[in-house]
Amino acid sequence: MENETLKIQNLTKIYKSGLLRSKETIGVNNASFTLYSGEILSLVGESGSGKSTIANLILRFIQPTEGKIFYEGNEIQEIPTIDYYKNVQGIFQDPYSSFNYFYRIDHMLKQAFKYTLKGITNRRKALESTLSIVGLNTEDILGRFPHQISGGQLQRVLIARALLFKPKLLIADEPTSMIDSSSRADILNLFKELKEGTTYTEGISIIFITHDIGQAQYISDRVLIMKEGRIVEEGETEDVFLNPDHPYTKNLLACVPSIYRKWEFDEE
Ligand SMILES: Nc1ncnc2c1ncn2[C@@H]1O[C@H](COP(=O)(O)OP(=O)(O)OP(=O)(O)O)[C@@H](O)[C@H]1O
Ligand SMILES: [Mg+2]
Repeated sequence: MENETLKIQNLTKIYKSGLLRSKETIGVNNASFTLYSGEILSLVGESGSGKSTIANLILRFIQPTEGKIFYEGNEIQEIPTIDYYKNVQGIFQDPYSSFNYFYRIDHMLKQAFKYTLKGITNRRKALESTLSIVGLNTEDILGRFPHQISGGQLQRVLIARALLFKPKLLIADEPTSMIDSSSRADILNLFKELKEGTTYTEGISIIFITHDIGQAQYISDRVLIMKEGRIVEEGETEDVFLNPDHPYTKNLLACVPSIYRKWEFDEE
């Protein structure tokens, strides 16, 4: 069996809000799954199904109500180690909210060096490699402020910053939703390259969160379908999309433009 990068065991998150924290909302309900080394696993589901809650629990932005998360066999504690934060990087939907408007791009990228590379030459090389991996021209981008580049370019900068840590696991939560459709395919292909390994990084395991079945089908080795906080279906991408078991998955697939509905053509 391949190595287990991440193991999620009976994970539950109940949010408490309102007066005296009396209102309870279930974010994730008893979810268990494993991410193996070197694979892209997609979490797919409608809005509010608990996808981001799982991402935020893995990244320890929030704490679980119940359940455990293991990274490479070790249980993640309430405050994870610096190594965990370096190895597990998040990429989010809105690149603009991930950056401080008052800093130039090079300043924000260099913040990653605090815990990683020493030496001006090493750092310069790392910047050049990571920017070229994400398809950006170094000179062009580094001196600008976030509002002086496009959303697609900023999302690439965000990916470059994550790569500077040489992560082993990326949690990408709807990373293409702010990006125009022509750059979307490039970003998806970039994730595929990152999985295989680049000149700067080893192969990276990826949790890819999307409500777009087409993207999940294109990018992932395996998929998890979520509904109302629960994982309702799990399997190899082809199996789930060609022979969905759960009625909810069938409904989801029925809403996808026919271009993606391969299974209909296969039945003919
Ligand atoms: N901080 C919070 N406080 C209270 N409830 C929350 C909080 N964050 C999320 N929830 C609720 O938890 C449930 C799961 O939300 P989550 O953000 O994980 O969904 P999602 O699948 O990422 O949705 P989307 O596709 O819209 O991003 C929703 O019912 C949501 O309203
Ligand atoms: Mg979300």
